[in-house]
Amino acid sequence: MEYRAMHLIVLVIVFTAKLSYSAKILGIFHMPSYSHFVLGETLFKELAKRGHQVTVISSFPQKEPMGNYIDIPLKILPGILEERVKERNHFDIVNVPVYLVPFLLVQAGLNFTESVFQEPEVQSLLKSDAKFDMVITEQFLNDAHKGFANHFNASSVILSTIGSSIWTNHLVGNPQPFAYCPGIFLNYPPHMTFLQRVKNTLMLTLENLYFHLYFFKKQDEILHKYIPNAANLDEIMYNTSLILFNSHVSSNTPLPRVPSMVDVGGLHIKEVGRLPSDLQEFLDNSKNGAIYFALGSNVKSTDMGKVKIEQILAAISRLEVNVLWKFEDDSWPNLPKNLKIAKWFPQQSILAHSNVKLFITHGGLLSTMEAIYFSVPQ
Ligand SMILES: *[C@@H]1O[C@H](CO)[C@@H](O)[C@H](O)[C@H]1NC(C)=O
Repeated sequence: MEYRAMHLIVLVIVFTAKLSYSAKILGIFHMPSYSHFVLGETLFKELAKRGHQVTVISSFPQKEPMGNYIDIPLKILPGILEERVKERNHFDIVNVPVYLVPFLLVQAGLNFTESVFQEPEVQSLLKSDAKFDMVITEQFLNDAHKGFANHFNASSVILSTIGSSIWTNHLVGNPQPFAYCPGIFLNYPPHMTFLQRVKNTLMLTLENLYFHLYFFKKQDEILHKYIPNAANLDEIMYNTSLILFNSHVSSNTPLPRVPSMVDVGGLHIKEVGRLPSDLQEFLDNSKNGAIYFALGSNVKSTDMGKVKIEQILAAISRLEVNVLWKFEDDSWPNLPKNLKIAKWFPQQSILAHSNVKLFITHGGLLSTMEAIYFSVPQ
C-alpha cells in the first residue's frame, strides 16, 4: 500500500515537472500589415505546437482554431487603416523627403499604440487575473506595449521585423557608432563617404533627440493612461530580456551586437508545398525559364499607372520566357500570351521552382530573404 502511494506521488511529480516546461506567453503584434505578422505568426504557432500556451493580440486571428493558441483580434486599427490604404498609392511615397519619414512614422506610431489599449478585449485582459511568463512584443514605434510585461510581471522579449536599429539598440545597451552604422531610412552602405557620415550623424542625432525628448514621453503617457500603476517606461524599456531580429548575416550589413540580440531572419520560410496545378503546369512548361514579378503584400502593381503598365506589358510580350505577375486587376485587356496574372501567388513555392530564373521584387525584407534562400537572382 505504502509502495503504491509512493508510486503515485512519484508519478504526480514527474507529470507536474513535465508540465512546468511549458510557458504562458502573450504575443502583441499591433501592426495591421501581414508582412509584419507573418513573423509573429510563425513564432507563436511553433511555440503553441511545442506545448506553450500562447495568447496573441493581432489583426490576424487564425482561420482554423489551433490548440494552445488563443486570439485576441484587434478591430480598431485595421478599420482605421483600411480607409487610409484604400486612398494611398504606395508609389507616391518616393516623393516624401527621406528625413521626414521617421518623424511622420512616429505620429502614426502613437495612434497605433493607443488604439491597442482601447480595444475592449485588451482592457478585459488587463483587468483579468491572467498570468504570463513572457510577453513577446513586436517593435514598431509602440514602446508603451512593453508595459504589458511589467503589468503581468513577465519577461519582456522583443521581435523586431527589421534588423537592429536606433529603435532597438538602446533597449539592450547596444552601441551604434554613427560612423559605420547607417540609419534605416538613409539607405547608405556600411562604408559611407565623409558626407554620408555627416548626414547620418545629423539624422540619427535628430531622431535620438526626437525619441527621448518627445516620443517616449508620449508613450509613457499612453501607458499610464491605460495601466496607471505601471512602472516608468524608462525602467520597463531597459528591462528587455531578449530581442529577436528579422535579419541575418547573409543579407544584412555587419553591425555591433550584444549577446541578447539574436538573428532569426528566415524564420518565416516554410517547407514549400506543391503548387496549385495551373501554376505547376505553367512553370513546368516554361522551358526557356520564367520571371516572377511581385511587389509584396502592400504595394499594388496597378497603382503604377496605365502608361507604365502598358510599357511593361509591351516588354513582356517581346520576351521568350514566361512571366508571372502579381497584378490586382484581372480585367486588364490584351495581356500577352506568355503572362499569367493573379492577385496573390504562393511566393515561396514559386521561387522554389527550378524554372524560375529571375525575381522582379520591390526589395522587401521577407522577399529578399526568400530569394536568397531559394537562390533566385533579383
Ligand atoms: C524586469 O523583468 C523581470 C523579468 O525578466 C520582471 O520580473 C520585472 O518585474 C521587470 N521589471 C520591470 C520594472 O518591468
